[in-house]
Amino acid sequence: MKLDIEFVRAQFPAFDAAPLKGQAFFENAGGSYTCRPVIDRLYRFYTERKVQPYAPYEASTLGGAEMDEARVRLAAILGVDTDELSFGPSTTQNTYVLAQAFAQWMKPGDAIIVTNQDHEANSGPWRRLAERGFEVREWQINPETGHLDPADLANLLDDKVRLVAFPHCSNVVGEINEVAAICAQVHAAGAVACVDGVSYAPHGLPDVGKLGADIYLFSAYKTYGPHQGIMAIRRDLGMQLPNQGHHFNGDSLYKRFTPAGPDHAQVAASAGIADHIDALYDHHIGGDAAPAVKGAAVHDLMQAHEHELLQPLLDYASAKNSVRLIGPDKATSRAPTVALALQANAEEAAAQLAPHGIMAGGGDFYAGRALEAMGVDMDRGVLRLSFVHYTSKAEVDRLIDALDQVL
Ligand SMILES: Cc1ncc(COP(=O)(O)O)c(C=O)c1O
Repeated sequence: MKLDIEFVRAQFPAFDAAPLKGQAFFENAGGSYTCRPVIDRLYRFYTERKVQPYAPYEASTLGGAEMDEARVRLAAILGVDTDELSFGPSTTQNTYVLAQAFAQWMKPGDAIIVTNQDHEANSGPWRRLAERGFEVREWQINPETGHLDPADLANLLDDKVRLVAFPHCSNVVGEINEVAAICAQVHAAGAVACVDGVSYAPHGLPDVGKLGADIYLFSAYKTYGPHQGIMAIRRDLGMQLPNQGHHFNGDSLYKRFTPAGPDHAQVAASAGIADHIDALYDHHIGGDAAPAVKGAAVHDLMQAHEHELLQPLLDYASAKNSVRLIGPDKATSRAPTVALALQANAEEAAAQLAPHGIMAGGGDFYAGRALEAMGVDMDRGVLRLSFVHYTSKAEVDRLIDALDQVL
């Protein structure tokens, strides 16, 4: 079964918007287009339900019910309990709040492990625990390949380590880390695993329960949704960590790490991500199935499509002498988030692609630690070409054509 790309694109109003016509979008890892159900739900909330939710009048009850619906449906797809899922303004902010909780929870002499493959969001907030007296160890990537080797993690783990923070997939290396095996390794050492899924989730929501991550973070605005961070946390960990919300909300797991009041409209609109997954499932497969089963089927459909489109781009980049492909050259090992180190400034290269109708970006993408470790010239940065399931083969062909003229 192949992804019906025309059906997929019809779910995204951006493809019909006049200002975007004729443009091929390759900066999806920065933020994806938004699917129609999310836009419709956001519009409905703002026009019909923009009142304080959970009060007894109808507009408010409906608004609250939609917010609940978002958590119920997304949690079910992710294989976690509803109250294990919470929203925050962004993944970075969610991580900062978590780091604060860990700082209060850990004991003198405790250690944490971070990587130099992560985006700063799942790195900097944890590294700052060093200022609070905790030991911070770095799990380092291979400088040639960008790979995080679990054998190196084994050398860092001991009974002092409370937390290991690592990415499901880096936003510049692109390689998909073996999350389930790493989580098992972390648990065997008596620590908890915090996984940054921001670069992975747009390519198919994972079953977080099966992965075994104690904390799993991703950003809805990169996953066809509104500008929110989404966090799943295992109940017994979340209830052990000190409450970061209002004291009277401490019994409610999903409120413990959201100190600010949530953005009601955006939380409600996030149910549209589940609508999108359901629509893809119904169109391609159909019938009744549990949300996690639908999520897994849609995940596989998306990945198969992305792999097919990605391999020619990787082959092109690998064959080009003036280009260094960051991360694996096999589509099946990675996400379609492809960073290229050039012999020129990457932002300028991105600007040269724009007249060809290619939207892409250059820079360090807040993953400077990984790029520096790999010896990338930080004044040049990398050109990043990232796509998702709604990208067509014609767009990738056009990208390769444009790269051929610009690089
Ligand atoms: C891998 C990764 N993690 C975390 C983040 C931060 O997400 P947010 O903007 O929601 O804080 C990003 C954003 O680019 C990212 O690519």
